[in-house]
Amino acid sequence: MLEGLRFPLLVAPMAGGPSTPELVAAVVEAGGSGFLAAGYLKAEDLAARIARTRELTAGSFGVNLFVPGSESTVDISGYVSRIVAEGRRYGAEPGEARWDDDEYPAKLDLVVAQRIPLVSFTFGLPSPEDVGRLHEAGSKVVVTVTGPGEAVRAAEVGADALCVQGFEAGAHRGLFADDPSDPAGGPVYGLLAALRLVSSEVDLPLIATGGLVHGADVAAVLVAGAAAAQLGTAFLRADEAGTQPAHRRALAEAGRPTAFTRAFSGRPARGIVNRFLTEHSAHAPAAYPQVHHLTRPVRAAAGKAGDSDGLNLWAGQTYPVASAGPAAEIFARLHGEAVAALKQAQRWLG
Ligand SMILES: Cc1cc2nc3c(=O)[nH]c(=O)nc-3n(C[C@H](O)[C@H](O)[C@H](O)COP(=O)(O)O)c2cc1C
Repeated sequence: MLEGLRFPLLVAPMAGGPSTPELVAAVVEAGGSGFLAAGYLKAEDLAARIARTRELTAGSFGVNLFVPGSESTVDISGYVSRIVAEGRRYGAEPGEARWDDDEYPAKLDLVVAQRIPLVSFTFGLPSPEDVGRLHEAGSKVVVTVTGPGEAVRAAEVGADALCVQGFEAGAHRGLFADDPSDPAGGPVYGLLAALRLVSSEVDLPLIATGGLVHGADVAAVLVAGAAAAQLGTAFLRADEAGTQPAHRRALAEAGRPTAFTRAFSGRPARGIVNRFLTEHSAHAPAAYPQVHHLTRPVRAAAGKAGDSDGLNLWAGQTYPVASAGPAAEIFARLHGEAVAALKQAQRWLG
């Protein structure tokens, strides 16, 4: 699938709203590909999105699944009280802090039945049995890794390719396990370092992701050995993205840095620093998805009120450089920049 692309650029899965069939289809039609996000969706809603994307394009696209972890036993009652108080600002009640499996088994059955050509996983490993089922259905399996240790384990279960995520990336780190004693949840590698370390351990095609926002960045990771680049934040302001208005505004203002936080979901994720992140990060337990469900109605109410200080503003480190417009235009600009950057570098290399 990656070989046939005019330009090996994938739009990242972006759960929670930004990923839409229209966005994925626009990038596929422009000559790239990408992933629909299955995270947080019911299996039937994912089926509808797959069908809609197929209506919009005859081209090939993938689906991304969250691998469920085990239920944390940490006491989150103190954090519940904070979110009750947070909810009062917006007249919202917090949600139930429950663990769930994100309907992973049903969604896995669905992608097998639908013979999705590329199925990617984040937050952990699919079982070798599930990798076998996907292979029988003709799918290629991609596992998101944040460093060389996870890469070796992904190769052992039979992954066909790895999505190597640098710490610059927007939203959740794809860590297999979240170490509660570490604010970042585990070791942090910049994207180029991660690509080098991973490629020294495993011999698999690598999809590079994290902080890539200009065509020159895409060229850089291809030169570094990646088979493709996966961009999220670069498409968050695309016309076809489902990014909500308060989030779009914060991205356009480009006034604040980004940081890792567990405050919104209970798992380390990179977002633009705002009041919610500043006030709650130090108190947030490593309890995903309980914290996600707890804060969800409060974040939704903040979004409805147009208050960008009360919701998760996921963004990669380079978000101030991302532009708005039709996805096809963003794609064409990235392609042009990549070609120009490679020519320039070739001149320097002689
Ligand atoms: C709003 C948003 C939502 C995301 N949701 C997902 C997701 O559902 N699954 C996933 O594997 N990665 C997800 N990611 C991470 C991307 O796959 C990718 O690692 C990241 O966007 C790369 O960094 P960049 O945003 O700087 O391009 C998300 C990223 C963003 C910005």
